[in-house]
Amino acid sequence: MDLAYMATLPLEEFIARRERVLSQMADNSTAIIFSAKEQFRNSHNTYPFRQDSYFWYLTGFNEPDAVLLLSKKNRQNCTALFLRSNDSEMETWNGRRLGVERAPSQLQCDFAFDIKDLNEKLLELCADSQTIYTLKGLDGRQQDDDFMDTLLPQFAVQQFTPLQPMLDEMRLFKSDNEIRLIQQAGQITALGHIRAMKETRPNRFEYEIESEIMHEFNRFGARFPSYGTIVAGGENACILHYTENDQALKDGDLVLIDAGCEFAMYAGDITRTFPVNGKFSPAQREIYEIVLTAQKRAIELLVAGNNIQQANDEVVRIKVEGLVRLGILHGDVDELIANNAHRQFYMHGLGHWLGLDVHDVGSYSNGCENGDRNSKKRDRTLAVGMVLTVEPGLYISEKADVPAQYKGIGVRIEDNILITEYGNKNLTCAVPKEIDDIEQLMAQK
Ligand code: GLY
Ligand code: MN
Ligand code: MN
Repeated sequence: MDLAYMATLPLEEFIARRERVLSQMADNSTAIIFSAKEQFRNSHNTYPFRQDSYFWYLTGFNEPDAVLLLSKKNRQNCTALFLRSNDSEMETWNGRRLGVERAPSQLQCDFAFDIKDLNEKLLELCADSQTIYTLKGLDGRQQDDDFMDTLLPQFAVQQFTPLQPMLDEMRLFKSDNEIRLIQQAGQITALGHIRAMKETRPNRFEYEIESEIMHEFNRFGARFPSYGTIVAGGENACILHYTENDQALKDGDLVLIDAGCEFAMYAGDITRTFPVNGKFSPAQREIYEIVLTAQKRAIELLVAGNNIQQANDEVVRIKVEGLVRLGILHGDVDELIANNAHRQFYMHGLGHWLGLDVHDVGSYSNGCENGDRNSKKRDRTLAVGMVLTVEPGLYISEKADVPAQYKGIGVRIEDNILITEYGNKNLTCAVPKEIDDIEQLMAQK
């Protein structure tokens, strides 16, 4: 497999995406898409730069301080990019820039302008557009809110039109090239988890195992994780987004590892839970087997034509039956499900879309493809080319009123699934999840 760090998509794919957006835009309209900004960590130091996923999706351009303009006037399409100009002093200090001269040929856009001229040129280029499409940023505010708000009175429109629904729907269906990159992200993520299993033993710190995982990611060209790595020993596993990773791993505990690499901008997202000392105790085994049975059943159900909700309903049933069997829940299974008795032990969803973002974009409900993000239903019909995670878990806090042997056990098992013509493909099955396979791998160290 080609593991070059700068692996990306062919330029034609970015061009084709822009054309698809333009073909869906109203006539006499402009779409304005901002790049990510550099974020300061402390004085003079920034966090590693991560491009905005929408901006990347349409440009493949990895610099901050850039804006993409897609415009359609009298049915003529035009693509313009604003970016930082070349500046030898700045480039000596902070790194190379593509520059305005090279951008049109390198990125196949019609025009490129210095970002310093954005204000003036933006008004010139789209003042008479009858529709102006914009995106919301990750904080739910409009991308570059203040800047756009000051310009709004000078445009011909009263308000901006959201571009998100169109792009989210496109991003939900992965192309063959994207699938290759997601597959690679999954494979590299799997290597990280295998190394973690081999290198875990009592008294090592959670962060040491995190570093084993990062070592493996970096070795294969994935420079960054796709989210904050979780290495959660013992009861820490019951904190869903535990990222302190600063405790020693204890003999007799389980460790839950939720880690994924970002490869060529695409995310992997695997969770495995295994015993720190390499051997499951009887109680750990009992909880683990419920989650594993539920996860495998969910994978069987996550195929084209079905939906996440159906699979989750079955997952909930398997878990509640299991918890009743172990004396953790008491009563009639149907009634317990109707009363959400399981929510104290399984408080998240079954999975999420996966792509450029680890929690990727796309509507989860049928009939909400136009961007209604408020629907809680997860009945979106699965179709070929969608990629999602399947990650059931059970988390039994020390404080739960359950038999003592189950207290403090947290288990999650997560794989990444591609919906195919023939069912689905598990992109992350290289990491063992059967108890015997885990114990065997850990015995090899
Ligand atoms: N690692 C984040 C998640 O599994 O959703
Ligand atoms: Mn995860
Ligand atoms: Mn996940």
